[in-house]
Amino acid sequence: MRDAAARHRILIGTAVEPSYLAEPEYAKILSDEFSMLEPENNLKFGQVHPRPDTDPNPYDFSGPDALVAFAQAHKMKMRGHTLVWHNQQPRWVTGGGLTPDQLNKALQSHIKTVVGRYAGKIFAWDVVNEAFNDDGSMRHTVWYDRPGIGFADQGAAYIEQALRWARATDRRAKLFVNDYGAETIGKKSDAIYAMAKDFRKRRVPLDGIGFQLHCDLSFDRPEALDSFKANLQRFADLGLDIHITEMDVRLRNNSPESLDQQAKLYGDVVKICGGQPRCKVIQIWGFTDKHSWLRNGHGLLWDENYQKKPAYDAFLRPLLGK
Ligand code: G3I
Repeated sequence: MRDAAARHRILIGTAVEPSYLAEPEYAKILSDEFSMLEPENNLKFGQVHPRPDTDPNPYDFSGPDALVAFAQAHKMKMRGHTLVWHNQQPRWVTGGGLTPDQLNKALQSHIKTVVGRYAGKIFAWDVVNEAFNDDGSMRHTVWYDRPGIGFADQGAAYIEQALRWARATDRRAKLFVNDYGAETIGKKSDAIYAMAKDFRKRRVPLDGIGFQLHCDLSFDRPEALDSFKANLQRFADLGLDIHITEMDVRLRNNSPESLDQQAKLYGDVVKICGGQPRCKVIQIWGFTDKHSWLRNGHGLLWDENYQKKPAYDAFLRPLLGK
C-alpha cells in the first residue's frame, strides 16, 4: 500500500501502540504496508505529561520515543495526536485547582515541550482535537471555559492561541484541527469551515483539517459520499491540506456480505481522496481487528489473525489505478 500510494503522493498511515511492536506480524505489516504512523494514545496529555511541572519528572516520552525510532528505522513519517483535547487528561489538569492563568501557562509549556522535542520528527500535529459539538457550538472543556485558558466565550480564540504556540515552536510542522462527524456538509463541518476561513484570512497558522472518518456502512450512500467530496473541496479551496486521520468502518457482524460492503466503502474513500489533490494522508485507526478500539466491530483491513480482509484489496486497487 505504501508504495502504490507514494505514486499519488499520498501517505498511508495507522494508529499504533508501542506495546504491540513485540508481535512479529504486527511490526512486519506496519513497516511493509504503511508510510506513516501516529501514536494511538501515547502523545495524549495524560500519557505524555502525567505529572505537574512542579514534579521533578513531569513527562513520560518513552512511548512516543519508541515510535519515533520505529518510524525512522522504516522510513515512515510520524503524525502527532494530540495537544489540546478534552479526554485522557491528567488529574492535575482536570482536578479544578488551576486558574485560567495557570492553565494558560501549563498549556503553553506543554505545547512548547512536546512539539519542541519532536521538531523535525513529527511532520504534522493535531493541535486541537474535537473542539466542536455536533450542532456547531464550541465544546465546553477545561481548555475552553471550564475554566479555560483565558478565552472563554471568545469562540475559537483558544484554538488560535494553541496554533500560534505550536507554530512558534516548530515552524515547519503542519498544524491541524481534527474532528469526527465533520466529513459531510452539516452544522459541525460548517462551524469548522467558518473558523478555517477566518483563520486563513487572518493568517492564523492552520495548515489543514483532519477528518477522522470513524463510520459504519451508512456512510456508503451516494448522498453521503457526494457531500464528503464537496466538503473536502471547500476546505481545499481555502488552501488547506486534508488528512483522513482515523478511518474505520464498524460492522455489526463479519458475514461475507458485510465484509464486501465494507471493502467497497474503503475503496470509495480511497478514490475520493485520490481524486482530491489536497488530500495527502489516508490513515486508519489501527490495522488489525485484534487491536482496535472498536473491539468487536471488525472495522479494519486485517482480521484478528492478521489475515487480509476484502477491504485490503479494495483499498489498494484504486492506488494501483485499477
Ligand atoms: O493506560 C491505561 C492502562 O493503564 C489501564 O490498565 C487500562 C485499563 O482500562 O486502561 C488504559 O487506558 C486506556 C487507553 O485507551 C490506553 O489503552 C483507556 O482505558 C481507554 O479508554 C483508551 O481508549 C482510547 C480512547 O481514544 C480514549 O478516548 C482508545 O485506545 C483510542 O483508540 C481512542 O482514540 C480516539 C482518538 O484519540 C480521537 N478520536 C476518537 C478515537 C476513538 O475513540
